[in-house]
Amino acid sequence: MKFFLDTANLNEIREAQPLGILDGITTNPSLIAKEGKAFKEAILEMCKIVNGPVNAEVIATDCPTMLKEGDEYVTWHKNIVVKLQTTREGIKTNMILCVSPTQALMCAKAGAAYVSPFVGRLDDISHNGIELVRQIVQIYKNYDYRTQVLAASLRHPLHVVDCALAGAHVATMPFKVLDLLFNHPLTDKGISTFLSDWKKLKPTT
Ligand code: E4P
Repeated sequence: MKFFLDTANLNEIREAQPLGILDGITTNPSLIAKEGKAFKEAILEMCKIVNGPVNAEVIATDCPTMLKEGDEYVTWHKNIVVKLQTTREGIKTNMILCVSPTQALMCAKAGAAYVSPFVGRLDDISHNGIELVRQIVQIYKNYDYRTQVLAASLRHPLHVVDCALAGAHVATMPFKVLDLLFNHPLTDKGISTFLSDWKKLKPTT
């Protein structure tokens, strides 16, 4: 399973990058606005830090302008993937805001590279986001679609575990969730016991 960070914060990306588990970045205009950076500048800085797909979202809602924006983004850097809202004006990219299996099926039929089911946003309105990931993975398996399932809007480590069990190809998450994946109180307790027992060992003669 690939891990993407869902952020526009360059410090978080710099901190995650040396961990050796960061495969790419998703971001969105809301996240970039929080950082007070220009869109292109922010995307290019991400491309410098991460050697993997960096998702840049189109702002237009009509097909010709979406295509124009996407065509321009991909000239900025070889790793840019164009993010599009899942509507009928699709081109081969990362189709975001996917909230139904039928949308995902249309994305695969249209040849999208990625489809992004928004797990947390479905949970927010009492729909089962993980169930949607399972359905999409199964549908794609049934017909050998090559579109990758990029589970997005993940809010906590259990979302990541459930997406891995469901067979999502990619999980994108905020830095705080990535950080939590490493932690367990039993590991911390075990380390502290080993260290204090180490101090009780007889010195080597
Ligand atoms: C991914 O492409 C989106 O930027 C992101 O996962 C949305 O997450 P949210 O629902 O927590 O805002």
